[in-house]
Amino acid sequence: MGSIGRDPLFIDRGDGPYIWDVDGNRYVDWVSSWGPLILGHADPLVVEAIRAAAGRGASYGAPTAGEVDLATEVADRFASVEMIRMTSSGTEATMSALRLARAATGRTTILKFAGAYHGHVDGLLAEGGSGLATAGVPASPGVTEAQASDTVIVPWNNADAVAEAISRGRPAAVIAEPIPANMGVVPPDPGFLEMLRDTTAEVGSLLILDEVISGFRVARGGAQELLGLDADLTVMGKILGGGLPAAAYGGSRELMERIAPAGDVYQAGTLSGNPLAVAAGLATLRKLDGAAYVGIESITTRLATGLRRAAGDRPIQVASVPGLLTVFFSAEEVRDFAGATACDAKAYGRFCRAMLERGVYPPASQFEAWFPSLAHDDESIERTIAAAGEAFEHAIP
Ligand SMILES: Cc1ncc(COP(=O)(O)O)c(C=O)c1O
Repeated sequence: MGSIGRDPLFIDRGDGPYIWDVDGNRYVDWVSSWGPLILGHADPLVVEAIRAAAGRGASYGAPTAGEVDLATEVADRFASVEMIRMTSSGTEATMSALRLARAATGRTTILKFAGAYHGHVDGLLAEGGSGLATAGVPASPGVTEAQASDTVIVPWNNADAVAEAISRGRPAAVIAEPIPANMGVVPPDPGFLEMLRDTTAEVGSLLILDEVISGFRVARGGAQELLGLDADLTVMGKILGGGLPAAAYGGSRELMERIAPAGDVYQAGTLSGNPLAVAAGLATLRKLDGAAYVGIESITTRLATGLRRAAGDRPIQVASVPGLLTVFFSAEEVRDFAGATACDAKAYGRFCRAMLERGVYPPASQFEAWFPSLAHDDESIERTIAAAGEAFEHAIP
């Protein structure tokens, strides 16, 4: 909110597609807690699942049947995932996947994309998207030179440069958001992910796909199902915990059995697989059937079409895939981080403030996605498009 020149909203409660701030103002919420709330706020089945789990005790530090059910649900959705290890945050899951990749390959370097965000893992903060890009922080103090030098940064959608960097550098792993959403939504060019898959396989590097945002959102089996490829390791979070803290990383049995106590790569967490988070995640995933994904796609398309119409002939791009959308203030299509940073952030700030004044809450940064949920009904979508018509006028008169 600082980046658009406003005080933050303090939230009192949420219900379906709406949130209320502590001053009693209601907003159509397109932030959806940055992704987990694909069913909207306070979905009755999720609330009931959490209530029932809490009544049986908050945490045991020992396995539960719910964790096995959740792992089974994940393995059923992702062809590349045979086993998972649960963590409490996406950051932890990414960090652990990197450790496993280094152990499995005996190599050190990790290749990441400019504008991607994988949580606040020390070695992955350089040229990060999301909050780092919004605050204009190119790299964070506190990260040692050694940590930073183990990361190679390459430009998204530049197939030649990336293929060359992988072949020359032979990294332990390439980590990518398969549909980046932390520099705004910047889908891969046709063939780009296939190039990543083939080149990493050729040189014996692992391909880690960070599906913390795209997983369970863009399709039942995440971006890997939507775009038709398999990762060596998959990182997931957000929807997996249904709004409570849960994340995971997973892959083939052979790789995952390297994790302690079955194997020698150590990783643990007191609250990993927490029963309340598992209950919320399972209740959420069980509602996300084929019909739900048809619904998410149709809600996203209605929003994207309405926003494009409201923008008229202004220099505005609405980038979208099912379940994710970004409004870029740019005359050109945005294909990489350089394109995202070249957008008119001041005009976006005026747009965003005008939307908030009209009771609609979009992300307060171009380096983020809007997160449609199944709770977004006709009324909330129409209110958003009507407000956008006025807000675009305000941003670019
Ligand atoms: C793609 C991606 N990976 C990892 C993370 C980190 O997850 P967490 O915030 O749960 O640590 C995020 C958070 O937004 C993310 O968007």
